[in-house]
Parts: sequence; structure tokens; C-alpha cells
Amino acid sequence: MYVLAIANQKGGCGKTTTAVNLSASLAQIGKKILVIDFDPQAHASTGLGYDPDKIEQSIYDVLSSLSQSKTNLDSILKEVNSNLYLAPSSILLSTLEQELTDEIGRETRLWDAISRMQTKFDYVLIDCPPNLGFLTINALRAANEVLVPLEMSFFSFNGVNQLLDIINLVRERLNHNVDYRILMTMFDSRLQYSYQVQDAIRERFGDKVCRTIIHVNVKLREAASQGRPALYYDKYCRGAKDYLSLARELISRIEPPEPLSKGWTPKNRISKSSPKIGRDMPARTVEFIFPDPEAKEVFIAGDFNGWRVNEDAKLEKRNGVWVKSMTLPPGRYRYRFVVDGRWVDDPNNPMKEKNPYGELDSLLNIG
Ligand SMILES: Nc1ncnc2c1ncn2[C@@H]1O[C@H](COP(=O)(O)OP(=O)(O)OP(=O)(O)O)[C@@H](O)[C@H]1O
Ligand SMILES: [Mg+2]
Repeated sequence: MYVLAIANQKGGCGKTTTAVNLSASLAQIGKKILVIDFDPQAHASTGLGYDPDKIEQSIYDVLSSLSQSKTNLDSILKEVNSNLYLAPSSILLSTLEQELTDEIGRETRLWDAISRMQTKFDYVLIDCPPNLGFLTINALRAANEVLVPLEMSFFSFNGVNQLLDIINLVRERLNHNVDYRILMTMFDSRLQYSYQVQDAIRERFGDKVCRTIIHVNVKLREAASQGRPALYYDKYCRGAKDYLSLARELISRIEPPEPLSKGWTPKNRISKSSPKIGRDMPARTVEFIFPDPEAKEVFIAGDFNGWRVNEDAKLEKRNGVWVKSMTLPPGRYRYRFVVDGRWVDDPNNPMKEKNPYGELDSLLNIG
């Protein structure tokens, strides 16, 4: 189980949108997901189709000692879809801090509840409120990683240092090892300003920035107002695709593939229709080329590297085109390029196949 807290004290930067849509994407890929709505505003509950006024028991009843209907985390779970569950919030959550003022170990209250849970999840996503108070500290203490959405404005830098200070405090004072990643949200590719902010964010936070960028997409707003993730509202919209890319990036980082090694057989990674693989055929060196001199960075992700977007997958710019050589064993591979955070198929390769997300993967046969 991997616990991800989505936090930033700045309001409206995309925390809830990320919690709702990333969770739906992870569930779509086949992971079992729990979203904990940890904001008294209960926007994640609404965004997943539950009216907080009609919910009988919420996360408040799990954590409070005073609640009349005290219960455990398993009992409040709502099944949103197969693989996707919600622990709803309620306005009462805002009283919890005061209630627990004198309690010892109050910062670990949420983690205690998560760790006692009987239901098994692959990923738990916690949607935090827009402040650095008691609820956010509880979420950080429960998390393996904090995902910090930053919208494309220089103002979004304000306050991140404070959040990072709190993360350090949790590490030192609560002796809990928690990592963080920055997620760029509401990127408007029509504005030069977005690219300037992007450069500044990458310069400031380096490899702590997610490769995937979430673009501005009105469908994300529309879907939220209908109480649905964008994937269930319009699965081909930009917002749904961006969050699927983010899910893939997260999975490939958290669940790294087995490395290519001698004698490696790609049978688990290729589709049934693939040709027979001659195991004794030699590996071949392939040169991947992406012809966009304007791009700032280009990666390649595919079956051969577990769809992992990292430094090893980076293309090099040579004479105005992006190039990467790879030596691959015989097999049939699917791959895509990640160009400045956008997933695209190979424009030079006519062999393509539709993937489960409605996009095209490029195909490569070796041997
Ligand atoms: N990529 C996007 N494109 C367009 N609209 C977006 C995008 N991301 C979020 N929004 C919209 O922006 C508003 C704020 O987003 P959201 O509620 O996710 O932020 P938040 O950080 O959870 O806010 P709060 O701090 O109040 O909890 C919402 O109306 C949401 O639909
Ligand atoms: Mg929110």
C-alpha cells in the first residue's frame, strides 16, 4: 500500500481535481484505490458523486472520540466504482483539532486508522484542506509521499517553502520518512507565461517535478460539477488523458519494472498477437528519433522500460532532432514519447495500435 497526500495550503490549485481524477485513472489501470476526503469542505466526496449532507458516517466518526456514531475506516467506505472507494468527509472534521488538543499522539490519528484497515488497497490518496493545520499534518504523517499541485503562476511559489518546512518537521519531529513531488496543474499551452513558470519550477525543484503536466481543460470542471471524474464523463478529453499519464508515471516510479537482463523474455509485456520470439536471436540496437527542435525535453517510455519516464529514458538533442539509441532483445514493443510533459506517438512510425486510454501507441518489432 502506498499512501499519497495531496497537499498545498494555497486554495484552488487543483488538489481535489487531482485526488478525484488520479484515483479514477489508477483504478482504471487495475489498481485498488481508496480516496480519503480529508477536507471539511468535502469537495472530493462531491466530485465522486456523494452529497456530504446525505452521508451518515464520515472520516470524522473514525477519528473522533466524541462522535455518537464512532466506527472504523472499513465501515464508512463507499464503492464509487470497481476498484475505487471513498472515505467521505463532513463539516464536523473541522472540529477535530480542538477536540483532540490534549490527546497524545494526535498527529498519528489518521495513520492509526489506515494501518488498522482490513480492506487492502494498492494506493491511498488523501485530499488535504487548504491549510497547514492539524488535518494536513495528520495526512503527511500517514503518507509515503506528498504530491504538491502548483498552478502555472509565479504566485504559486509563495508558500511552497512553508509546506516543505512542515514536511521536514514531520520527518524530524515525528520521525516519519516522507518524500514529495511537484505537479504542474492548469497549464495553458497558449500562454508564453505558462512556459516561463514551467522553467522556473523545473529549475527550482529539479527531479522532484512530475514529468506529466496537467493542462487547463474545461471538461475537468464540468465533470466535477456532475460529481464524476473526467474519465467517466468524457474519456477522450485532455484532462482524462493527462491524469491517466500521471497514473502511469506514478505506477512506473513506485512499482519499477524488472530490469532488462540477459535471457530476459518479454512474454509478460507483449500482447497475445505478437509474433513468436526467437530467444536465441541477437539483440538489436534501435535509434529512436523525435523531430521537434522546439521541444525542451523528450523522453521515451514503453514496454522495454516499464513505461518509466526517468533520466535513462531521456533523448539527446543532436543537430536539431532528439535521438536515443537502445539495444533491445527480440520482441514486439509498444512505446510513446513524452514531449514537455505531453504523451505522443512516434510521428515517423506508421505502425500504431490503440491503447486502453484511447490514444495510439507506436509499435516496434524486433526479430
Ligand atoms: N486542469 C484544470 N483545468 C481546468 N479547471 C481546473 C483544472 N484543475 C482544477 N480546475 C478547477 O479549478 C477549481 C479549483 O480546483 P480544485 O477544487 O481541484 O482545487 P483545490 O486545490 O482542491 O481547492 P481547495 O484549496 O479549495 O480545496 C475547480 O473549479 C476545478 O474544477
Ligand atoms: Mg480541494
